[in-house]
Amino acid sequence: MKCRDSKSSLDTPKKILKVNHAGECGAINIYRSQILLCKFFYRDLVPLLQSFKVDEERHRDIFWNEIIARNGVRCKSYWLCGLGGFVMGFISSLLGRRGILACTWAVESVVINHLEEQLKYLESKGDHSAYEAVYSILEDEKNHRDTGFKEGGVTNIWYQPLRFSVSFFTEPIIRFGMR
Ligand SMILES: [Fe+2]
Ligand SMILES: [Fe+2]
Repeated sequence: MKCRDSKSSLDTPKKILKVNHAGECGAINIYRSQILLCKFFYRDLVPLLQSFKVDEERHRDIFWNEIIARNGVRCKSYWLCGLGGFVMGFISSLLGRRGILACTWAVESVVINHLEEQLKYLESKGDHSAYEAVYSILEDEKNHRDTGFKEGGVTNIWYQPLRFSVSFFTEPIIRFGMR
């Protein structure tokens, strides 16, 4: 989704930060529910998912600190993202190991598309601190995506359906958050 100048009282960088902060809550909860199920069924995946969750918690803090620094607000969709993430993580875990890894691959691919659009916008506006906040998480998200891809296999049948559902559910939430 392309970023546009905001006409409301919150400027676009503040909206980007709050949407990303909520998105990280979603990501944390995807990994949280996957870890929960993997403890029973795929124990070997737990350390990997835990390391992803630690990354997402750090990302959430980066955005929150930047929101506080500019008197921003928490997104109205924060808890919705958390719930949606938990459900998404749970469903993907029911699809098995490949479902879990396809979920990471799909979610992080969608995330990276958004981050890249945001970076273009923030660079054009010369908002260096927001740019830095977004840019600082990009490598982690690429690592998550590529690990999901590598570990789950190129022919992972769950990727396309999950990618479609992730886009289908996250786009309206992002649109709502960017209002
Ligand atoms: Fe993240
Ligand atoms: Fe991530």
